[in-house]
Amino acid sequence: MSKTVFITGTSTGIGAAAVRLFAQHGWQVAATMRNPADAKFGDLPNVRVYALDVTDTAAASRAIEQAHTDFGGLDVLINNAGYGLVGPFESATDEQIQAQFATNVFGVFAVTRAALPILRAQKSGVIINITSVGGRTAFPMNSLYHATKFGLDGFSESLWYELAPFGIHVKVVAPGGVATDFATRSLKMTVDPNDDTNPYAGQVRSVLAAFNEHGGAASAPEQIAEVIYTAATDGASQLRYIAGTDAQGLLTAKAGMSEADFATMIQGSFGVATT
Ligand SMILES: NC(=O)c1ccc[n+]([C@@H]2O[C@H](COP(=O)([O-])OP(=O)(O)OC[C@H]3O[C@@H](n4cnc5c(N)ncnc54)[C@H](OP(=O)(O)O)[C@@H]3O)[C@@H](O)[C@H]2O)c1
Repeated sequence: MSKTVFITGTSTGIGAAAVRLFAQHGWQVAATMRNPADAKFGDLPNVRVYALDVTDTAAASRAIEQAHTDFGGLDVLINNAGYGLVGPFESATDEQIQAQFATNVFGVFAVTRAALPILRAQKSGVIINITSVGGRTAFPMNSLYHATKFGLDGFSESLWYELAPFGIHVKVVAPGGVATDFATRSLKMTVDPNDDTNPYAGQVRSVLAAFNEHGGAASAPEQIAEVIYTAATDGASQLRYIAGTDAQGLLTAKAGMSEADFATMIQGSFGVATT
């Protein structure tokens, strides 16, 4: 019987590419998204679209249960839904901070808690959390996004131990820059970069320019979907999959440098002041 994968945030980008790849490999795919009218999977057999805003805990439970019933199984959960909040921490509103964590962190908790009774009872399953290279190292002007992705990374590492006795593998796929809607329509800012009354505006402009210049979109979403598929199917207990040559290069460089030298390199490459 075909295996079933449940994926969040599949309207565009990495989530949409993952839906296509799993479907092409013959999987049954529960493709969830905030607005099902955005779905572009009419050509794919065995894909069902479910409405799910991951900030709605009750909806997460309903979607997991409905997909489990419709497909008669649940083998892999991919927590992909997420977005970036960029800009100075000091300028962020309570609403922006809470919304960032509601989607990137509490959304993952809600969907994972809904899936766990099923996976634990069957003593098998794979949970893949899409974090970021920004869950292992930080860039300037992204403090709140990093807080969510570092949080998910630590959450996943601990959960790896907790669920291993039940035959459930927890995995992290950490992409570098990917050419999706992440840096355009999905991006939220804590400040207008052109508002020079904000003392951080110059730093924000430098950081945005550096992302655009240095491969903010080094990988295609299809390449990240391939890494996700490997993580879902390799049967390994490996926790982290660093996805994209940019992410791998950066983390390798970090591992080989002192903390001070790495920080100086990051300040230089983002054009932010050292003092
Ligand atoms: N692109 C990158 O450079 C990059 C790098 C590292 C990690 N990532 C991570 O990769 C994941 C996917 O992002 P992407 O690059 O594919 O960007 P994307 O094209 O903007 O896709 C993000 C998806 O998340 C969905 N989403 C946002 N808030 C949601 C919510 N509350 N409930 C359900 N779905 C929600 C969006 O849905 P709507 O269409 O409704 O907005 C969209 O389908 C994110 O977790 C992101 O942090 C991306």
